[in-house]
Amino acid sequence: MCVVDFDGKWLRSGSMKVDGNGVEAIQEQNGMGPVVEVINVWSGPRSLSTSLMYSFAQRDDTEVLDEPLYAHYLRLKPNLSHPSQEEVLRLMENDGDKVVRDIIHGPCKKKYRYAKHMAKQRTPCLTKDVLRGRHVLLIRNPLDFLPSFDKVLQEEIPELEMVHLAALYMELRSLGQTPPIIDATDIRNNPEGMLRSLCSAIDIPFQPAMLRWKAGPRPEDGVWAPYWYSAVHKSTEFTPPPPFSNKPFPKRLYKLLEQNQPFYDFLKREALLPIPTPAAPPSLPCPENRELFIWANGQLLPRNSAKISVFDSIVQGGDGVWEGLRIYKGKVFKLEEHLDRLFDSAKAMAFANVPSRSEVKRALFATLIANNMRDNAHVRLTLTRGEKTTSGMSPAFNVYGCNLIVLAEWKPPVYNNTDGICLITASTRRNSLNSLNSKIHHNNLINNILAKVEGNLAGAGDVLMLDCDGFVSETNSTNIFMVKKGRVLTPHADYCLSGITRATVIDLARKEGVSMEERRISLTEFHTADEVWTTGTMGELTPVREIDGRQIGDGNIGPVTKQLQAAYAKLAEHEGETIPFAQQ
Ligand SMILES: Cc1ncc(COP(=O)(O)O)c(C=O)c1O
Repeated sequence: MCVVDFDGKWLRSGSMKVDGNGVEAIQEQNGMGPVVEVINVWSGPRSLSTSLMYSFAQRDDTEVLDEPLYAHYLRLKPNLSHPSQEEVLRLMENDGDKVVRDIIHGPCKKKYRYAKHMAKQRTPCLTKDVLRGRHVLLIRNPLDFLPSFDKVLQEEIPELEMVHLAALYMELRSLGQTPPIIDATDIRNNPEGMLRSLCSAIDIPFQPAMLRWKAGPRPEDGVWAPYWYSAVHKSTEFTPPPPFSNKPFPKRLYKLLEQNQPFYDFLKREALLPIPTPAAPPSLPCPENRELFIWANGQLLPRNSAKISVFDSIVQGGDGVWEGLRIYKGKVFKLEEHLDRLFDSAKAMAFANVPSRSEVKRALFATLIANNMRDNAHVRLTLTRGEKTTSGMSPAFNVYGCNLIVLAEWKPPVYNNTDGICLITASTRRNSLNSLNSKIHHNNLINNILAKVEGNLAGAGDVLMLDCDGFVSETNSTNIFMVKKGRVLTPHADYCLSGITRATVIDLARKEGVSMEERRISLTEFHTADEVWTTGTMGELTPVREIDGRQIGDGNIGPVTKQLQAAYAKLAEHEGETIPFAQQ
């Protein structure tokens, strides 16, 4: 510790011999560099003050001082008899103004100096210098701290700690320096939250090291430590307070309690609240997606800044339409087909002020190029009805035009397309034409999400959804195909989404000379199929191994599935609209 020399004396202003760093610090202090930033922490005794000092001593940027004004205080109170009185007066500077000037604000090797003070040590004869630096008030409910004085308190010296603290608070406030107040019990109940809050209030970064210290005496302890610090020397962290005191409140201190209590209540009302400990960022399925550029509100934004208004229709009512696109080998696969469906959906929903096809393409390409995405990426293109002037259902409130969101992410195919997945049938039925037409690719996905919840609870890869008559429609997020005796079947696109991968696979099957039929298909037919696969832009062609516990075929990927998977991969590799990257 740089404030005590080898004889244990407090250092005085730059005149004492100190090590190289100390000399450097003094020179800096003399006008060549930054001056130490002092954090004065004022409290009463038995208020966690030493623990909080230990906590700050763990910081790599802070040096601490243990009650530097103690000798000054004792000099002015000759009638007191404190256990370590003689040593304190012999070893410490007792001229309070000198202490403030040369020790508290004296040279320092670190950026901050934390000075622990008892509020009553700020005697009236000190100059205003004692109010330099930052100040913090550490309070504790008198009901909790007064009982510990029962044995030691001298009758004639009333411990009016809360009054001293309130006076200091008012004085600092009148100077425009309202100090943060922290309650000792709050620290014990939530050490990290309260230390974060305190650090933020005094404008220094929180350091996790403040939460723990080693047991035993510390070099910065005052000379009185052997008399007072036995309990704190056993501690290594802040511990929760006992739920209640198991001793009656000493009657002789009742008056003192009454005198302190209103001042504590007054200060407590202003006390800091904890700052919640930030949760560790969740791991992402694809960590590269932590740093993305996203198109929203007409511009490219970093991931954490890409936000839309709470007045946007998509927040208010899921009132948007969307497309999922996949990027292969520097190209966007089936871009025109996806844009056709997007604009058809927007028209069916009667959106106004829809961006043009070339505007959407420009935003899409700008996003892909900023992210350097040429392959293995998926784009979620969303068009909302836009912001509303007020919350409410009516599109009449949508006066700003549509909002386009281009969310491009690194995303390898999401299902296991080699071994296949297991499905169960959901009890949630697919939306009927009578309520919500599946030709519209809208964002009102609760129907599918409720089905997916069932699947998650059952540990299934995805869930089959039936139409209102009990025929198979699709899964919660993909279209579905089956093979029986060499013939490929898929449900009509009336309840299910009219998928672009579905249309591509139907086309490929025909081109590959595989017999293909669209019709109503029962669940039993799927249970007893030779092969089943699902289709979607995100996951391509995914084999299904099992439905509702029934093995599909022999449980392996069937020949037609493999044939169409290969045909799809070839098509995706070669077709698509080129992303206009600059030539390298
Ligand atoms: C419910 C549903 N079915 C099927 C699909 C697959 O459609 P596509 O092949 O156009 O990606 C999707 C994809 O958005 C979907 O949400």
